Amino acid sequence: MTESTIESILHENRTFNPPETFAKDATIGSMEQYQALYDRAATDPAKFWEELAESELDWFEKWHTALDWQPPVAKWFDGGKLNITYNCLDRHLTTWRKNKAAIIWEGEPGDSRTYTYAQLHREVCKAANAIKAMGVNKGDRVGIYMPMVPEAAIAMLACARIGAVHSVVFGGFSAEALRDRLNDGEAKLVITADGGYRKDKTIPLKSAVDAALADNAAPTVTNVLVVQRTGQDVIMQEGRDVWWHDLVGAASADCPPEPMDSEDMLFVLYTSGSTGKPKGVVHTTGGYNLYTHVTTKWTFDLKDTDVFWCTADVGWITGHSYIIYGPLSNGATSLMYEGVPRPSNPGCFWDVIEKYGVTIFYTAPTAIRAFIKMGDDLPEARDLSSLRLLGTVGEPINPEAWMWYHTVIGKEKCPIVDTWWQTETGGFMLTPLPGATPTKPGSATKPFPGILADVVDLDGNSVGANEGGYLVVKHPWPSMMRTVYGDFDRFRRSYWEHIPAKDGNFMYFAGDGARKDADGYFWVMGRVDDVINVSGHRLGTMEIESALVSHPAVAEAAVVGKPDDLKGEAVVAFVILDGGYTGGDDLAKELKAHVTQEIGAIARPDDIRFAEDLPKTRSGKIMRRLLRNLASGQEIAGDTSTLQDRSVLDKLRG
Ligand code: WTA
Repeated sequence: MTESTIESILHENRTFNPPETFAKDATIGSMEQYQALYDRAATDPAKFWEELAESELDWFEKWHTALDWQPPVAKWFDGGKLNITYNCLDRHLTTWRKNKAAIIWEGEPGDSRTYTYAQLHREVCKAANAIKAMGVNKGDRVGIYMPMVPEAAIAMLACARIGAVHSVVFGGFSAEALRDRLNDGEAKLVITADGGYRKDKTIPLKSAVDAALADNAAPTVTNVLVVQRTGQDVIMQEGRDVWWHDLVGAASADCPPEPMDSEDMLFVLYTSGSTGKPKGVVHTTGGYNLYTHVTTKWTFDLKDTDVFWCTADVGWITGHSYIIYGPLSNGATSLMYEGVPRPSNPGCFWDVIEKYGVTIFYTAPTAIRAFIKMGDDLPEARDLSSLRLLGTVGEPINPEAWMWYHTVIGKEKCPIVDTWWQTETGGFMLTPLPGATPTKPGSATKPFPGILADVVDLDGNSVGANEGGYLVVKHPWPSMMRTVYGDFDRFRRSYWEHIPAKDGNFMYFAGDGARKDADGYFWVMGRVDDVINVSGHRLGTMEIESALVSHPAVAEAAVVGKPDDLKGEAVVAFVILDGGYTGGDDLAKELKAHVTQEIGAIARPDDIRFAEDLPKTRSGKIMRRLLRNLASGQEIAGDTSTLQDRSVLDKLRG
């Protein structure tokens, strides 16, 4: 966050009450109602969730224990059996929703398709039979590396149908990043497409899969299932690669849902941490189904007439929870959009809202800031009157962007839900309930009922009003991550050992700094670890450093974030070259391209600064705090007495 953003947030005191007409029809329509729910949930969270599990989901068999909590291992609804696709599909087929649109897909260039619940169910069953025929069994991992096409959703649901574990890798990641994730998860099958459309270009996906698998570098993968999307040339390897339209096209549409234990793994999703390689965040079936269902229902105050549009990519948790599982479990209409705003089509989001009469629109602050730059004419030239609720996710929203969203897009009549959560949390943790919670621009407001969140110091003591501290959660919740795939110890270390248990409460440490104001509203200030948030995408500085040092010219690298008006944070890399290389524009360009190749364009450094040395402590630790000051052109703040060699700083300043 920039200094000016922090300043404006610290002085933010505007409050917006839910519009009366909205509150009148809302499921939770007043603060009294929220507080009553919150209090009931806080008194006995397990009972609260158990009642909801009973009323909101269909189970094949009931659980024997609502919550078994042996910190940090939580089991929710142990003994219960269900299948999330039954809740997302089958149960709607016996109601009028059978022919309701489940997924409306607006593709590029100019394509569109709609799947009713009956049609989606049929396609999912066919795909499930097809992947079964490829030898994928319950518990096997399946990599999904796809553009934003309906087949991405169908592939995920098909895995869940037969109890296979999907591991979606964002289509913008490179072949190298894909290979690492496939290997870490020991995937048996990869589902991909020939290519995808991205900003007026096509991106090659199948050839990236080929590169990831070349020379038997991902030896667990035995098959690749390929959706034809762009029609570009691809090489199909005999015996390994199969076209989706051949195999799924010919498969039977009869595939009963596999009865899953509540704690059976549903998916793995990789995310960046502060150390080492990305972590495979593991989510299980029952708790995740319940939590995404309830948070979608209450936070978006879903009605059967809603057209719900979450602009995320299915490659991120937001796409998993709030394009697919949450909306479908509720029988909602979920809109999926393949495009992104770009100079040749800057008004595309507003066109989509107008075309489909979108009622709930959920996007990232980065997108909002980009729209502000593009000017008000674009949204003002479209009919956005269908909108009734807006949401944001991914990074702190600066009050100016919030106000623009409120006025220009929401016409001052749509509540805004600023939802704070993480890949690890599975669903919303802090969020307004739109018919109840008065909002303040820049605040994610209050915890969702059943979530015991707090801001504490390093000893686990709650800090006073308006004091900065660490954001923690003090009681398990149904969709919390269960482990890091293949590395339970890392799970324990990353999330449960930073802050000591207090009064018997183990504390989940989120990695974010926050403060709570006198009204108990949370203000999330951003990451306090070595994770940076670029355009709402989470990147580990260590990952980018490893990518840089894998280039022959680089001896050492340190990466930090620097505040950026548009992207939230920009990537700045301090690079020390090996003898024989000299820094310059060409090498900087080459290093940027190298990071793109190693990780993907989202991690491409904005700024490469060649240096002779890095500021280190006497024990040899890089002092990133000082680099952050340097990167953003600020005065060096805080103590520098532990610095090994002060002259390093002067040289870096230039
Ligand atoms: C940040 C995305 C402030 C935060 C769902 C968190 C936010 C990280 C917000 C998780 C918000 C997400 N306000 N910060 N409303 N939402 N963040 O795993 O730093 O990709 O820890 O999950 O994004 O990113 P992730």
